[in-house]
Amino acid sequence: MQMDELVALCKRRGFLFQSSEIYGGLNGFWDYGPLGVLLKRNVKDAWWHDMVTSHNEMVRDAGAPGTYDMTGLDCTIIMHPQVWKCSGHYDLFHDYMVDCRESKKRYRYDHVKGRWVTGKKHGTDGEPAVEMKVFITTMETEGTQEALQAEAAHFFGLRKKDLESLVWEGPVMAISELDSLENVVGPDAKHPGTLTEPREFNLMFKTTIGALGGEDDVAFLRPETAQGIFVNFKNVCDSTRVKVPVGIAQIGKSFRNEITPRNFTFRSREFEQMEIEFFCHPSESADWYRYWRDRRFNWYTSLGLASDKLRLREHEKAELAHYSVGTADIEYAFPFLPEGDYGELEGVAHRGDFDLRSHMEGKLVREGDQLVLEKGPDGQPKHRGSGKDLTYFDDQRKERFVPHVIEPSSGADRATLAFLCEAYTIDQVPTAEKKEDASRTYMKFHPRLAPIKAAVFPLVKKDGMPEMATEIYSELKKSFAVQYDEKGAVGRRYRRQDEIGTPFCITVDGQSVEDGTVTLRDRDTLEQVRVKRDELLTELKQRLHLS
Ligand code: GAP
Repeated sequence: MQMDELVALCKRRGFLFQSSEIYGGLNGFWDYGPLGVLLKRNVKDAWWHDMVTSHNEMVRDAGAPGTYDMTGLDCTIIMHPQVWKCSGHYDLFHDYMVDCRESKKRYRYDHVKGRWVTGKKHGTDGEPAVEMKVFITTMETEGTQEALQAEAAHFFGLRKKDLESLVWEGPVMAISELDSLENVVGPDAKHPGTLTEPREFNLMFKTTIGALGGEDDVAFLRPETAQGIFVNFKNVCDSTRVKVPVGIAQIGKSFRNEITPRNFTFRSREFEQMEIEFFCHPSESADWYRYWRDRRFNWYTSLGLASDKLRLREHEKAELAHYSVGTADIEYAFPFLPEGDYGELEGVAHRGDFDLRSHMEGKLVREGDQLVLEKGPDGQPKHRGSGKDLTYFDDQRKERFVPHVIEPSSGADRATLAFLCEAYTIDQVPTAEKKEDASRTYMKFHPRLAPIKAAVFPLVKKDGMPEMATEIYSELKKSFAVQYDEKGAVGRRYRRQDEIGTPFCITVDGQSVEDGTVTLRDRDTLEQVRVKRDELLTELKQRLHLS
């Protein structure tokens, strides 16, 4: 699938628009259109329903080490600045970036990719050609070698037919893997050596609280929803009857000043997360980690992500924080990535007691195999914690402990993007409905996610058909999102619905007016059956997995 075709469909049919488009857009920000908002809401609703509201704390889920409680929160985007000091985001949440002195552009250090190449550089004023070895770079992720060829042709002043004279060496790699940037030609530069040494760039968006706006009033937009859950752990335990093990869920906006936002909504500066912090006894945390890792993977496949495009990647032991028994990424083979590459949809992390302890004591750091309080140059704690007791007393075990945390953390926008990519289908097989116009583009959304669940058409605009069709439309609309369409040939109306992924179309024809039956057409199989009007809602609910 070509990504640009999906991007075009998303704009044409109202799934996604670039933010502030009439002013030229704003890089890293996206608006969901009338259909996009329904799709993303369905993704979030499915997550909340499956993880929170339908969870039964009295019944043990398949594969779960025991029963557990599940509840939710909705916290503020701006929190006390101390939260980010104790969570580590204030000191550690940064990317390395390089600036180009020539083009004045800024790039993420590990995103600039290139290859060594030797060739003869031709001067502009008939100067003799000089042999040079440089590291040519690009920001392109697709067709990287072709992009590098084009950059090299530009740099050496060669025509396409002379490109064979270039000698390429080594694999494509990021400039962050090089020992020096001296001979690097930046992605938008004409000369080598114009990139600065990498510098740290904190990803949190800064703002100020109140009218004075001084340094003491600085605050940050949250870069993750997780911290709102940690700092409310005690409130939740004290105000409800939940008991550890308990999961606390939150869906909400997060903000990261990404240096190179890209790949449609995949890396945005404003996005939504769906996070669970699952608090449990330390001795059971490894079992709960495995449970959540598998449960979350299965959630994506249950909503139609093909398992051959989805993978669970366990982090290597060396990548893990010492307190962690495991972290796994759930990854999807997004079509904008090079063949064989996967992009992260969700991380499932065993975080030990790091977060609750940091919010009690102050920011913790690793020292050997211990977590210790980070001290400033004066030997005092660098960032103070709340000093509040965030331990938990288990009255069955008769034991007080700091719960360990398993964190399944997913992105609502990335999940929505994966469902969009997966749904995009071009069906080439001729059928009675398509006849010679064999190709059909349709969005094969899982019925739970489809923005519009059904469309109602009168076959023609006369003989009582529009009246009956509008009545059916009004009835169905009370239960789910339905569209009514009476414009154009019925085949064209089917195609319009296919393109937005509507699973079922209902047509009212001459027979309907006589015997009260309608045709029900299935988006995927194109099969049409006659259904009695008074059985239609039940039939649809069942087919849509809503009953
Ligand atoms: N609390 C842990 C945490 O935030 P993360 O891996 O940084 O972990 C979790 O983020 C998820 O949030 C990612 O797997 C991804 O789905 C989503 N996400 C992170 N950064 C994003 C961005 N810039 N744009 C869109 N989604 C993003």
